[in-house]
Amino acid sequence: MIFLFIFLLFLLLLMFGSYMSRNNHFWKKRGVPYIKPTIIFGNFLDVFLWRKSIGQKVLEIYKGTLEPYLGFFILDEPILLINDLDLIESILVKDFNQFRDRTTPKNEEFDPIGFKMSFFEKSPMWITARRRLLPLFTSSKMKSNFEQMKNSAKRMELAIRKSMETRGDIEIKEMLNKVTVDILVNSFYSIETHSFEEKGSPFIGITKILFNWKAIWHALQITYLFIAPQFKRLLRYKVLDQEVTEFFKKLTWDLLINREEENVKRGDLIDILVDIKKSQNVTDEYSREADFLSSLVIAAFVGSYETTSTTTSFALFELAKNIEAQKLIREEITKVETKSGNITYENLKELKYLERCLLEVMRLHPILPFLDRTCNEIYQLPGTELILEKGQKVYISVSGLGHNPKYYPDPSKFDPSRFENKNLKEKFKSTYLTFGIGPRACPGKRFALISMKIITANIIKNFEVKLAKNQSDTLKINPIGFLAQPMGGLFLKFSDIQQ
Ligand code: HEM
Repeated sequence: MIFLFIFLLFLLLLMFGSYMSRNNHFWKKRGVPYIKPTIIFGNFLDVFLWRKSIGQKVLEIYKGTLEPYLGFFILDEPILLINDLDLIESILVKDFNQFRDRTTPKNEEFDPIGFKMSFFEKSPMWITARRRLLPLFTSSKMKSNFEQMKNSAKRMELAIRKSMETRGDIEIKEMLNKVTVDILVNSFYSIETHSFEEKGSPFIGITKILFNWKAIWHALQITYLFIAPQFKRLLRYKVLDQEVTEFFKKLTWDLLINREEENVKRGDLIDILVDIKKSQNVTDEYSREADFLSSLVIAAFVGSYETTSTTTSFALFELAKNIEAQKLIREEITKVETKSGNITYENLKELKYLERCLLEVMRLHPILPFLDRTCNEIYQLPGTELILEKGQKVYISVSGLGHNPKYYPDPSKFDPSRFENKNLKEKFKSTYLTFGIGPRACPGKRFALISMKIITANIIKNFEVKLAKNQSDTLKINPIGFLAQPMGGLFLKFSDIQQ
């Protein structure tokens, strides 16, 4: 009996192994250079085991090749890594119509709101979700947000001063979370929050569960959403935790009703929602249409919160290692303030060196280190014989391109002068993909740059920043999730410039 059991188990494993290996020759048959997969996990075992992040693995694959494109495998699925700059541009921009969607699945049954956010939404609904957000990023809107952004940055400065009295080193990511929340909640929903002063702020509470990697199941779902979309039902993939969804659903409806009662226009996201509610006659808080409204409120929060706060923390981390760069930023601020009395929306663009520092930080540490697209219809890669079938997934290594010495000599060096050239678009072509390019690129780019400039300028103007004694000078990236997030916080030491 026991022999029969062992034999059946062995047979089962053999069948499973051969099933999972059935695609192993996929790239070979098409004459595409590829990395040989290992059994079951393809080339992504490290990612499934959370030893490496998706971005780190894609970077490793990118670094190991000089080919214009390279095949690899995630589980049994063949993926194509695109490295050639012209091909990247074709996929993201010129032939965008054939590559409209990302690779994540849609799982509305388990998370009807999360998958409606434009980042995860599919064509054609994705366009509607994106278009509704665009009015938030016009110049006049940015300008009207400017003073409140500065006030939020000022409150962060005060919080740093207070912490300096009681604590030596400061964990900067936590502070940046707060200032980012204040900025975005005020800009998008016209709610004034004071996260540094307020105890138990509901928005700060929600950030703690939004990307909470300590909740293992949620962490697993968010990572596997990208690398194992086929398990969407089995693992009941959700982008958002139920508590997050409930919080934003209630917030959306409350804000809508209040705004309707107030009958005023504030030029924010809630105005946009009021218009949609009216034009589509949305009366039921629990309807699909109401879910779409909530998805817009969440998209604005999720899109900006982690990206902006983490990238600013990377910026302060790099500046803490570059005292000379801090001096140059300070000189630049003094020059603008001496000329105009104050930093304004109009003269912010004169802080050119600061902008170069931020661009350089985002080259070194892109928050989304890889881009992914699915081929929507049969497509011949331009200039090659290779035909991609419908459903073929392609990856692009944002960090690989940014660390390629061919495009960025001495790539590990923090060197803002790389961005001195006026015609940056021409110079860097599609090697600089921190915000993506093409119709699905980040719509919040300008909003992010303005907030990061204001926050960083105010800190560097007032403090000299150094790495805390026990802070490693190399960033350790969390292998969980799909965004590049620092492991274990970033500790900095602040000294007052006036003293
Ligand atoms: C430093 C800050 C930020 C970085 C580095 C960043 C980067 C990115 C990247 C790389 C993408 C994907 C692009 C692609 O696939 O081609 C993206 C998409 C997106 N970002 Fe950002 N982002 C930032 C801030 C923001 C902000 C402030 C918002 C405001 C709401 C935002 C909203 C979005 C949305 C909605 C998408 C999905 C766009 C679509 O699929 O149509 N991001 N972002």
